[in-house]
Amino acid sequence: MPEAESPASDEQRYQAEIPMQTPGFFLKGCGQLDWGMKNRLARVFDPKSGRTVMLAVDHGYFQGPTTGLERMDLNIVPLAPLCDALFCTRGILRSTIPADNRQPVVLRASGGPSILKELSNEEIAMDIEDAIRLNAAGIGIQVFIGGEFETRSVHNMTKLVDMGNRYGMPVMAVTAVGKDMVRDARYFRLACRICAELGAHYVKTYFVPDGFGTITASCPVPIVMAGGKKLPELEALTMAYRAVQEGASGVDMGRNIFQSDAPKAMIAAIREVVHNNMKPARAFDLYRGLKAKKGA
Ligand code: 5RP
Repeated sequence: MPEAESPASDEQRYQAEIPMQTPGFFLKGCGQLDWGMKNRLARVFDPKSGRTVMLAVDHGYFQGPTTGLERMDLNIVPLAPLCDALFCTRGILRSTIPADNRQPVVLRASGGPSILKELSNEEIAMDIEDAIRLNAAGIGIQVFIGGEFETRSVHNMTKLVDMGNRYGMPVMAVTAVGKDMVRDARYFRLACRICAELGAHYVKTYFVPDGFGTITASCPVPIVMAGGKKLPELEALTMAYRAVQEGASGVDMGRNIFQSDAPKAMIAAIREVVHNNMKPARAFDLYRGLKAKKGA
């Protein structure tokens, strides 16, 4: 049954200005999880700020060697120590990321179709035992609400959540949007809430300029903001700033970091925005200053 239009404003309905209480743990909705689950979450999210800067480099699982990820040994390995957690595939982890890497890793656990096919037609593409063997701090999966294979992708997620709960492995649901679908707060509220209701431990979703706070307010577990297509650096910093101010528990950004002409400078600026609430203009100055130095 379609939702009846509510006469109340979004402000009245979602009360985004009142943060959800987080008794028992620093992350919202996670206070009643097991020790192992909480410990893994505390490796990804900084307990001091309650936030994370994840570096998303998993694109190859459906896009192949996309711009900026052609040589992950040269372009991504040097960035890894600068993030709070790396979001990558097990193939790249085993082949390319040095095993003495100290950053926690969240592993992409879905796959199937390439960019040449219908993307929502995914399957679970990793065994939970392999995630444990690889010392993962979490696993991530795409959920295509409104997509052609919506039910399959939701069931992939619920199966992964069952496995995750069995072994203390947090599952990050990624709300994937089809090409022709409307990306607005109403859609993302629907998608994020479905993921949380069905057991995702945190949700990765896109920023929308109008009503992002209603998405975070109506999702009872942490949200990390997805980066999306490459933007000019000041815009990307502003988007990250607004997302955390409006309730996101951090970011999981890829192209806006590794496609920047100074990726190290960009991740440093994003970190200030996320962990220290630095304003976008100041963070942009920091980015430019670092970029001017060699090796940024
Ligand atoms: C697709 C994904 C990507 O594989 C990736 O993580 C996206 O990162 P970004 O949009 O910041 O480049 O999750 O939905």
